Amino acid sequence: MTSRHDEIARRRTFAIISHPDAGKTTLTEKLLLYGGAIQLAGSVRARRNAPTTTSDWMELEKERGISVSSTLLQFEYGGCVINLLDTPGHKDFSEDTYRVLTAVDSAIMVIDAAKGIEERTRKLFEICRLRGIPIFTFMNKMDRPALPPLDLIDELEKVLGISAFPVTWPIGNGETFCGIFDRLNNVVHLYERSAHGARKAPVKVADYRDGAIAALLGADEYAKWLEEVEMLSIAGGEFDREALAAGRLTPVFFGSGITNFGVQNLLDHFVEFGAPPQPRRLPDGTPIDPDSDTFSGFVFKVQANMNPRHRDRLTFLRVCSGTFEKDMTVLDPDGGKPIRLSYPQKLFAQERETVETALPGDIVGLVMHRAFKIGATLTTDPSIRYDEIPRFSPEAFATIRNVGTDRQKQFHEGLSQLLDEGVIQAFTTPETGLNTRLLGAVGQLQFDVVMHRLQTEYGANPRIEPAPFELVRWFPKGESEEKWRDAYLGIGVKLAHDLDGNLVILFPTRWAHDYFLEKNPTAVLSATSQM
Ligand code: G4P
Repeated sequence: MTSRHDEIARRRTFAIISHPDAGKTTLTEKLLLYGGAIQLAGSVRARRNAPTTTSDWMELEKERGISVSSTLLQFEYGGCVINLLDTPGHKDFSEDTYRVLTAVDSAIMVIDAAKGIEERTRKLFEICRLRGIPIFTFMNKMDRPALPPLDLIDELEKVLGISAFPVTWPIGNGETFCGIFDRLNNVVHLYERSAHGARKAPVKVADYRDGAIAALLGADEYAKWLEEVEMLSIAGGEFDREALAAGRLTPVFFGSGITNFGVQNLLDHFVEFGAPPQPRRLPDGTPIDPDSDTFSGFVFKVQANMNPRHRDRLTFLRVCSGTFEKDMTVLDPDGGKPIRLSYPQKLFAQERETVETALPGDIVGLVMHRAFKIGATLTTDPSIRYDEIPRFSPEAFATIRNVGTDRQKQFHEGLSQLLDEGVIQAFTTPETGLNTRLLGAVGQLQFDVVMHRLQTEYGANPRIEPAPFELVRWFPKGESEEKWRDAYLGIGVKLAHDLDGNLVILFPTRWAHDYFLEKNPTAVLSATSQM
């Protein structure tokens, strides 16, 4: 039997970050295919579209075509246990997407090689960078005409400010894309395209001077390619594993999710270099060793009302230290009676299975009647209390008010519970009060969820309308409000407080934000509440 230490060390918990349509779903599926978790690509997407249990909440999901349930995929590969967390994208992009990134030890960044770095990727990358976790880059869609690989590498360095080390190098581009050169292992993988990439791509392993490559590319192209590869080995430097571990360098892989080219190389190197579960730190910086005897974990996501009659909540817990055991008792993070953790579940897309034990790096779904706050620490040791999960800058704002005088109680109660759950953020300004709240969301869907749940779960009758703000920034903790109260902030700019009482500033446009900083060069503003 392997020791717990070894079991922890073989876990790889990560998320895929990308702009919509860059190929995250396709790559996820292909990782499962190569990981042996599915036999035929196409099944994850099919599962997503399969009919689900009907509840009002599910109806909303279906109407919007969002997927709330495919949160975690776990499979074994190359001696490792891979935990892949879904980062909700497209229409279901929300603060949850950012929060998932607080629960992973590494990330794979998928980039559409024809488009380069896009806006959403940049935002998600920033969150990973703040955490200093290893980020792997997959340049996808090389089977279509792509930007020159050197330009793509350059863009990583210029736009994201991260050093890039091409671990693989593509052979051909678009129509001629036929394989990749693995620079670390010094081998070439030549592929054959198979129907829709449903099965693993047949591969031939060769030396980079193999005549087959010249035959596939043509003599001129091959000569150019050789020159590029040789130039890279002279100018590219060494692969610095420490810089990768600290999030200062990204290893880059080229490929095509749809045809499976380069997927296995990515997975093999990810297993080799991806971070095992890292010690989580207490607010004073003390690291908690994952292999300690004390169980601890934190809640990074709460999904409410899978079944509206029971008001169950699915609480997602990232195990940080010790061993999680079914039916174990932990301290109440809010100071109440100890809580028994029954009904723990492992989730694979929409299938669930009861978990008996889980180790650091693993994610457990707890079906609970009570609600935990996002960021709550669950542990048996009162001295462990992890930092809260930061609040991320909303990009959409709305005023919500209770209409009329009846149902006020439902409105207040409902909203305060939803705010506790972290469904949305709220800010107080001199204009807000008990009946009118200013809400902030990362994605539009969060407003829909709030309205839907207030109406169906709490029987409230609120009205919501857009508020004239585009972004919010946090002042450092303890910043003097007086200092800014009498200052000229700009047209439509407002001081406010977040739910924890932190001083923030609301801007109607990005321009107003830039103008404010220009006029107040000493102001320190942050896009998250704390990290
Ligand atoms: P996402 O989850 O990041 O949003 O992306 P997704 O995998 O759904 O892919 C978006 C589109 O890009 C899909 O096409 C998908 O087939 C295509 N795609 C993904 N990877 C590759 C690749 O390596 N090469 C090429 N050429 N295309 C790729 P679609 O037309 O929107 O959907 P579908 O009809 O193909 O399912």
